[in-house]
Amino acid sequence: MPSHDRTPRSCLTIVLAAGEGTRMKSALPKVLHPVAGRAMVGHVVATARAAGADDIAVVVGPGREDVAAEARRIAPDAAVFEQTQRLGTAHAALAARAAIARGYDDVLIVFADTPLIRPESLAAMRAAISKGAAVAAMGFVAADPTGYGRLLLDGDDLLAIREQKDASEGERAVKTCNAGLMAMDGARALDLLDSIGNENAQKEYYLTDAVEAARAKGLRSVAIMASEEEVMGVNDRVQLSAAEGVMQRRLREAAMRNGATMIAPETVFLSHDTRIGRDVLIEPHVVCGPGVVLDDGAVVHAFSHLQGARLESGANAGPFARLRPGAHLGANAKVGNFVELKAATLGPGAKVSHLSYIGDAEIGADANIGAGTITCNYDGFGKFRTIVGAGAFVGSNTSLVAPIHVGAGAYVGSGSVVTKDVAPDALALARGQQVEKPGWASDFRTRRMASKKS
Ligand code: UD1
Ligand code: MG
Repeated sequence: MPSHDRTPRSCLTIVLAAGEGTRMKSALPKVLHPVAGRAMVGHVVATARAAGADDIAVVVGPGREDVAAEARRIAPDAAVFEQTQRLGTAHAALAARAAIARGYDDVLIVFADTPLIRPESLAAMRAAISKGAAVAAMGFVAADPTGYGRLLLDGDDLLAIREQKDASEGERAVKTCNAGLMAMDGARALDLLDSIGNENAQKEYYLTDAVEAARAKGLRSVAIMASEEEVMGVNDRVQLSAAEGVMQRRLREAAMRNGATMIAPETVFLSHDTRIGRDVLIEPHVVCGPGVVLDDGAVVHAFSHLQGARLESGANAGPFARLRPGAHLGANAKVGNFVELKAATLGPGAKVSHLSYIGDAEIGADANIGAGTITCNYDGFGKFRTIVGAGAFVGSNTSLVAPIHVGAGAYVGSGSVVTKDVAPDALALARGQQVEKPGWASDFRTRRMASKKS
């Protein structure tokens, strides 16, 4: 926002999400495909919010309640409009007529299949409107402009946008292209959109014609430039993977700029919502699904997979740790190799160092869970909880049959199958007794050798 603009200006963002997306070859609508763990339409709605949009209107195809629901997950008060026939981008924007008619200082129109757009760029378009332009179009210089609308500029003035199919040979030589995203003066948006016809090669109502409509009324249009990468549209799975790559690079760079170390950032995969503190170390080949929080000084060793997990400060996990939703490591707690945690809390300093499954559990501070310990939390119907008190020591290869409570400071002998609660500070042994037969082995060998010779 320009600094001279002291009063916040009201903004409506219209998200066009009525695309067919047939090139995705998917049962899922195109704009619901995720990038960094969030549907593309969700990214665009969140970005519009970050650019200051007060209200969001989403234009969906017929019956696309799933797309609307995804938008509402980010903006619960988003208004949803159906575009029953796909008659062009201006026609799609007009599906939100009732929202535009409420009156805003500016109206932003964005595409749900352009997930990499940054809030700064949308804000720059809004700023152009606040400075008096009727229309601000987002432009970029295309490596290959084929297929895009071309921006016909005269200095800073945008005179028209010409679609590829309607462009003359001379106009096709222009490399400055239309990204599709646009901002309009809110007081004039309906008037401009209503004046757009469909006399063109595709018989569509082109949003791009808002520029010439404004010009016919003596109003000014401008172009705001962005990088080609930022305005990349996703139409197929190859482009989806390219968008993912860009988003991952942004997320990693933001984490490193914020004080995290990544030894091989190109091998670390984050989610849109991954929260990473200072002096966090993430070793190579780590995947963070949605909902991961790594507090200051946490360490994730190589080849670990995290989802919905939190490591408090100084906690460390891996190599080869699997932290599923609800895994929570207290300060300086440790999870070692080949350990799976699900809905399990480790108190400060607790350790599960090797080869364990700990699910639906609460492990107290400084407790030690021996190698190969398994919580038997599921009987085929319900899930049951395991509670291990602070400072308890669970011997290796123990099965904790839930619901079960091992008291604070208790010991459980290795190889136990624990089915009854253990009192604090007690020793529980729940395994076969050792039987010893002196000399049995040498007698056995002698007998076997003799029978082999005969
Ligand atoms: C549009 C622009 C073009 C620009 C290009 C950038 C117009 C007329 N042209 O062309 O100048 O270079 O984007 O990618 O705007 N949509 C609807 N309903 C419709 C038509 C489109 O919701 O009836 C939505 C689509 O889902 C998509 C967006 O609008 O999200 C753009 O539509 P698309 O058909 O891809 O426009 P292009 O022909 O690519
Ligand atoms: Mg397109």
